[in-house]
Amino acid sequence: MLIFTTASELSTALAAERSAGHRVGFVPTMGALHAGHASLVASSVASCDRTVVSVFVNPTQFNDGSDLDAYPRTPEADAELLRDAGCTHLYRPTIEDVYPAGTAAPSAAADLEYGALTTRLEGAHRPGHFEGVVQVVSRLLDIVRPHVLFLGQKDYQQVAVIRHMIGQLGLEVAVETVETVREADGLALSSRNRRLGEAERRAATVINRQLAGIVTGLNCGWPARELERLALAALRAHPLLEPEYVEVVDGDTLLPYQDGAPAREVVAATAVHAGSVRLIDNRTLRPPNP
Ligand code: PAJ
Repeated sequence: MLIFTTASELSTALAAERSAGHRVGFVPTMGALHAGHASLVASSVASCDRTVVSVFVNPTQFNDGSDLDAYPRTPEADAELLRDAGCTHLYRPTIEDVYPAGTAAPSAAADLEYGALTTRLEGAHRPGHFEGVVQVVSRLLDIVRPHVLFLGQKDYQQVAVIRHMIGQLGLEVAVETVETVREADGLALSSRNRRLGEAERRAATVINRQLAGIVTGLNCGWPARELERLALAALRAHPLLEPEYVEVVDGDTLLPYQDGAPAREVVAATAVHAGSVRLIDNRTLRPPNP
């Protein structure tokens, strides 16, 4: 595995790989890597000749400074996991290397129109978050120029926003999504899980159980708004949990799903505070009455 700290060296190395006819897969991450990230790397290794992983805690997507400060950083363990998973090129840049003109420089990706994709759910609760995500992902795509970008379903809205950005900017990169990897008790793996205390960790299992309950309810034809209300109440009833939202939405528009409406995919999504840690998760289903 080659390790790069500058965009220029990485771009030069990858240009040579592309001209040699190698298919390049790219997995952007913020580090503190776990089996969920490893699954994205495995998907890339399975279908691409070269797998590039970036580890960069992007300051512009954190709306909360204390969340940025508390974000776990485990560079040695990350490199080991990536080497074992088959990553060929690791990019670990400084902020200056990613943003040579400064973090406040204009970003064509952030200036695009995203409509409800960035104003609802996470967008409503984390102002500026998706502007930062598309700013960094568009810059990373420009440096790496991969054939395929691998993203996790765990951040469902992030996938929708990035797909929209790629379409609007006319970038030639395929997007592949990878299913959420979970602990045995159903908790979605997240870099933030390591900040959970023992009791909060136990409480956090309620999140997936409530989402699974919504999916079962929808499959039985129960009303989406009622299922949202019941799940929200169950999460609120737990002394260590404080939900921000529970919503059942159309997977393409991210607008509230209307019972019985045709949809390619329906998503039950939530954000919940377990103590000081903010967790997100979602479950998807094909609508019962398409
Ligand atoms: P990060 O949270 O590190 O996640 C990197 C990638 O791993 C994302 O595509 C995310 O959806 C995926 N991922 C996280 N947990 C997962 C799990 N349990 N199962 C499967 N995949 C999982 O998402 C980001 O970083 C950043 O916003 C980034 C795209 C790197 C831009 O800064």
